Amino acid sequence: MQLEQTLVLIKPDALKNSSTGYILSLFSELHTGLRFAGLKVAHVHRMLAEEHYAEHKGKIFYPELIDYIMGKLHHQDSPDRRRVIAIVYEGHDAVRKVRDLAGPTDPNTAREEKPGTIRTLGAVIPVTPTDGRPPFHRMDNLIHASATLQEAEREIKLWFKPNDMVPGMRHFPTAEAAEHYYFLNDRVYTCHKPNSTCLLTPGDIAWKSDIEILEACVGQESPQVLLRCVAAKYLLNYRIAE
Ligand code: GTP
Ligand code: MG
Repeated sequence: MQLEQTLVLIKPDALKNSSTGYILSLFSELHTGLRFAGLKVAHVHRMLAEEHYAEHKGKIFYPELIDYIMGKLHHQDSPDRRRVIAIVYEGHDAVRKVRDLAGPTDPNTAREEKPGTIRTLGAVIPVTPTDGRPPFHRMDNLIHASATLQEAEREIKLWFKPNDMVPGMRHFPTAEAAEHYYFLNDRVYTCHKPNSTCLLTPGDIAWKSDIEILEACVGQESPQVLLRCVAAKYLLNYRIAE
């Protein structure tokens, strides 16, 4: 059977409630046969949050979902405590195994239908928006788990650089940067611009698909939305997000 990789995020509510150790032991190699391929503590900025949950843009719960994964809901007054733990697990049937342990998205459904799953420890919280949206319930459900192999590839590349991962456990093609790439306002430049962030220098190893996006966007004068999914991981833990 093919070795799979999947992305897990231990979300801010789990960190705040000190559920991290419990979650890690449920996923441990002893119980699941899954191994760590990469692991980091991340202060999630808005661009990464929006790219991660891009499929939910426009839904009623989207603004709170972004604030949730950024840690703003659980640490309103202490931005420096806003963190998630991002993990790449590798193993046979990794995507299904992790989803099964996570349980249903809605913690109430998890409690009713899948006792013992991680999300039974979650909370369903009433939200009364002040911006004209109708009231709804938000789901604080402790962890994220990639839903499919395709989603796992997109998410692993979104959160991790190749060098964040164990060398023998990089499943996706890599390439060497031939130029400098600087990022500013959704544009990429090969020469330094004031206030830009240097994403890559010549010789750096990056995901091949990221290099292809960067090359295609060089010289484009209008903002390039695709760049955000490349740049987000390089801006991680750069500064405290608003
Ligand atoms: P993730 O692992 O976090 O991606 O959850 P999932 O794959 O089980 O669910 P999905 O990707 O559909 O939703 C992402 C997140 O949006 C969930 O974890 C919830 O926090 C939130 N969410 C999804 N559907 C709903 C919904 O119908 N109502 C509310 N309030 N939140 C939702
Ligand atoms: Mg999902």
